[in-house]
Amino acid sequence: MIIEQRIKNFEKLGFGMFVHFGLYSVLGMGEWSQFARQIPWDEYLKTTDTFCPNENWAEELVLAAKDAGCRYITLTTRHHDGFSLYDTCGLNTYDAPHVCGRDLVKEFVDACNKHGIVPFFYHTLLDWHEESYKTDFKAYLQYLRKSVEIVCKNYGKIGGIWFDGMWDRPDDDWEEDALYGLIRSYQPDAMIINNTGLFQRGALGHIELDSVTFERGRPQPINLADSPKYIASEMCETLASHWGYTENDLHFKSLEHLIKTFAICRRYRSNFLLNVGPKADGSLRTIEKGALEVLGQWSRRNDEALHDPAPTGIEIAGKPEHFLLQNGNAYYLFVNDLNIGGFEHVATNTAKYTPDNIFTLDKRVKAACWLDSGEPLDFTQEGSRVNVQAKQYQYGEDHVVRIAKIEV
Ligand code: GLC
Repeated sequence: MIIEQRIKNFEKLGFGMFVHFGLYSVLGMGEWSQFARQIPWDEYLKTTDTFCPNENWAEELVLAAKDAGCRYITLTTRHHDGFSLYDTCGLNTYDAPHVCGRDLVKEFVDACNKHGIVPFFYHTLLDWHEESYKTDFKAYLQYLRKSVEIVCKNYGKIGGIWFDGMWDRPDDDWEEDALYGLIRSYQPDAMIINNTGLFQRGALGHIELDSVTFERGRPQPINLADSPKYIASEMCETLASHWGYTENDLHFKSLEHLIKTFAICRRYRSNFLLNVGPKADGSLRTIEKGALEVLGQWSRRNDEALHDPAPTGIEIAGKPEHFLLQNGNAYYLFVNDLNIGGFEHVATNTAKYTPDNIFTLDKRVKAACWLDSGEPLDFTQEGSRVNVQAKQYQYGEDHVVRIAKIEV
């Protein structure tokens, strides 16, 4: 099956940062707060008085993403509350230029381009604010397409458009041909993604869509048997429980969970899109910055295994959590839950562990080592039966998931 170049490029990006940022960031109660808490519009719109990000908000975000090892950022250019971070060029006055005198999407794209990060645009489909969404759906679709045309035309080359909210009116005709055709005409290399939400994870849709989504769910292999083209996949995940900044959300995921999730995404060649919700001034919470910093420590060390290598489907005997990726003459063995050897009085994860990683390979193994340190690993090979010895951590290290590089 032929894989289109934009889809190949997307899969190689591997790790992205999702950014939910908008008027709701002022309230600090999540991006659904207007709807979920039924905040009257005149009250909600008071956020426009104070929404004014720091001058360097975009560059700081981009640098945080880059340090974490991300290669792309997907920014909410317009979320369900209908407010646009971009200049709507007269479509309405409910946009960043009218509120803070700046085009925040331009600032974002400029910062991305400056630092070699690929910008993606999240764009809502459903709209709580735009009257026509409820009263005249055909007219709304025109408004939507004009909006999408603006973001496709005015910001140079982008990595893709990420739609969300079609699930709100599943039985209506969204005139997808026209919507996606528009994107193809202005941005032929852009990915088109349409989030299928929490209840339809991994579902295929319109033929122009280039990736399926696994919103907050572990990716799985997708069935492309009836699909005329190859389709990528992406899992998006929150750091705590909400996407937009939520002051009272303390439910942060562990770094162990995040590293393992990222690894599992790559097992299926899925991209991992990890969300942050900046505060109204555009800055991140300390815990978000810290999480990105630690993830960066892991992902930068293992960078070689996280972008180009593809799944092999080779099984590791008795270790279903372990898996092998391949890129040319290099294989990458992902090892979970290695323990710290020998020091019962100071280490808690000292459960019994067998270092064997036995699998079948019809090639001669020449060398094996830990990717993060270059430390050589013992291995044996009898015919096609390979056994790589993933030895325990020494006291003084624990990478959660460690990757062995195997050269053939
Ligand atoms: C859901 C939510 C939305 C969020 C999105 C991210 O669709 O409605 O708030 O932006 O998930 O995946």
